[in-house]
Amino acid sequence: MDYDALIRPGIGPMVPYAPGLRASEVRQRSGKRIIHKLSSNENPHGPFPTAIAGMRAVLPHLNRYPDGAARALKRALAERLSVDSSNLIVGNGSNELLVLIAQAVLGEGDEMLFAWPSFVVYPMAAQLTGATAVKVPLTDRHHHDLSAMREAITEKTKLVFLCNPNNPTGTIYERDEFDEFLSDIPDHVLVVLDEAYREFVTSAEFPDGLDYFDAGRPLVVLRTFSKIYSLAGARVGYGVAPEPLVAAVDKIRAPFNVSSIAQVGAYYSLSDDAELERRQRENREQKELLYSAFDRLGISYVPSEANFIYMLTEKPEAVFQALLSEGVIVRDFGGVPALRVGIGTLEDTEATIGALQSAVARLGRL
Ligand SMILES: Cc1ncc(COP(=O)(O)O)c(C=O)c1O
Repeated sequence: MDYDALIRPGIGPMVPYAPGLRASEVRQRSGKRIIHKLSSNENPHGPFPTAIAGMRAVLPHLNRYPDGAARALKRALAERLSVDSSNLIVGNGSNELLVLIAQAVLGEGDEMLFAWPSFVVYPMAAQLTGATAVKVPLTDRHHHDLSAMREAITEKTKLVFLCNPNNPTGTIYERDEFDEFLSDIPDHVLVVLDEAYREFVTSAEFPDGLDYFDAGRPLVVLRTFSKIYSLAGARVGYGVAPEPLVAAVDKIRAPFNVSSIAQVGAYYSLSDDAELERRQRENREQKELLYSAFDRLGISYVPSEANFIYMLTEKPEAVFQALLSEGVIVRDFGGVPALRVGIGTLEDTEATIGALQSAVARLGRL
């Protein structure tokens, strides 16, 4: 079989998503017993206790397919977000929804716009459809350049992905900029707001995507249970979208795309706001401790509205390895003068600071 002839030509140039290192690999390599995995923007804690209890209760029923329409979860989300159930889509992680929306909208000859650096799945989703992914660089301050993005829209542009807060920089675009951007978007363009880190945001200037959703305007808001709700391993995210788009996604998604475990875990996560607030508080506190340590050690960083910090360094590979040898896994993007450092528990923070101190002692100014 000639697999080059068999496999669609568009797939050839694609590269698979590269996940961060796993704790078990680093444990073996570094000889450290305790590993601080701060490379995938996960939550350091397990799922909410209410969610764990609910998911346990589902185990004996896994012989049955899940509810393909995720009715209970959609009802709970609709109430929580004050939107209509008919505007909700639920996916196997918000990642699946990004891809489904791209597949529903894009084809050969179309253009999709996104900022760079940002979430690597956007260009992958466009490539899959044969559309052209058009990168618009972030500003020098690592923010979305919304006016440059507006300028980059052409007749062929059908989709714009905006990541707010942005992964990997943790920056947000603010309400004023976004209002201006939206007011000037041509009718043929769908704007997708990826708000995977929304629950960590503290800025009063953050434009919450749901405030802009009115069921008519071509705008989608995507969120996830993988981050603050600690369900990354269960895979569940959701979107709020105009009904014709919900209908299109329903046609092309797998029939049972979200497992029962994931649906139940997400459903029960929504009922514990005290736990949600504890996690928000911890993230704020640990972020401040990390900022102070960075300042003390002369390390430059970009202030973050998410659960990670973009640390600027001219020696990313050396610093990455130095941290790894101390059992701290961060994200190196290869060739970019920065590392993304996840925010975790106090123990994670202390380990990160200790490892950075050793790195400074070894490497000089980072
Ligand atoms: C910006 C952004 N969007 C979407 C996702 C996908 O999240 P999930 O598929 O786990 O919901 C991630 C995951 O890291 C992300 O950083």
